[in-house]
Amino acid sequence: MEVFNSPEAARVFVSALRSQGRTVGFVPTMGALHAGHLSLVESARSCDAVVASIYVNPTQFGPNEDLAKYPRTLNADLEQLRSAGVSAVFVPTNEQMYPDGFSTTVEPPRVSETLEGTCRPGHFRGVVTVVLKLLNAVPASHAYFGKKDYQQWRVIEAMSHDLNVGTKIIGCETVREADGLAMSSRNRYLTVEQRARALLLSETLQHVETAFRGGEIQTDILQNSMRRMLLGENVSATTANAPNLHRLDTLQYAQIVSAHDLTPLSSIDRPAVALIAGMIGTTRLIDNRELTLDVN
Ligand code: PAJ
Repeated sequence: MEVFNSPEAARVFVSALRSQGRTVGFVPTMGALHAGHLSLVESARSCDAVVASIYVNPTQFGPNEDLAKYPRTLNADLEQLRSAGVSAVFVPTNEQMYPDGFSTTVEPPRVSETLEGTCRPGHFRGVVTVVLKLLNAVPASHAYFGKKDYQQWRVIEAMSHDLNVGTKIIGCETVREADGLAMSSRNRYLTVEQRARALLLSETLQHVETAFRGGEIQTDILQNSMRRMLLGENVSATTANAPNLHRLDTLQYAQIVSAHDLTPLSSIDRPAVALIAGMIGTTRLIDNRELTLDVN
């Protein structure tokens, strides 16, 4: 497995494969790899070669976010990518990505303006700028993103479409722990007690899907019941005196929007997605579930 630090070296490697007519699948990551990342690699293996990147991009973290403590496990990550059959990994430094004099950024698309865009100002500007830079260094035929970060996937899809990026953007299903918790590099921040409470996100999404399948399509009703669950307002009298055992510490949003452009819906009359973000202690968690009409 090749490891490239410079964008030029990565581009030479990928361009050579492409000029031989080979497809290249690209999996951008910030490292601290888990089975969710590896499932993207597995999807990318339908291409002739797989290239991954590991780069903790500082410009997508807000001033009060976890950039300094973000887990960095480079050697273990490289070992996992090697075992998964990856041909090359692009691991740039901050100096290579943002050298002195760097001043261009990409204005993110409209779909970035709500939800995460509201909670994390500037986040998507950092994401679309770095993803465009990564796609220029790794001009792959296909790039794979997790639906775990549903809005990020839609934002990158819109950016690539609007800016005529030649790489096909592919969204992949969220990988979960056996009990339903969506895998995330940030789960390792959780204490045992917080890890138990983190299950509320996937349980709430399960509950909303069940209600939807049962015929409830009014989003205000579904959103209210999501919020009640996430804030522990459904707990029984016996546990009500310890409500923080059954709630998020802060609920940032619990919304149902159109799956395609993430605009609000008053009823689920087209493919939709329920999205949740909140804090447990100092850890920010997100999760989502697609709600589609085709029941098979
Ligand atoms: P990172 O959080 O490392 O995630 C890399 C990719 O893995 C993203 O596409 C993300 O959606 C996907 N992923 C994370 N957890 C997943 C899970 N449980 N199941 C399936 N896929 C999952 O997202 C980023 O890095 C960065 O913003 C990046 C796109 C690399 C730009 O810096």
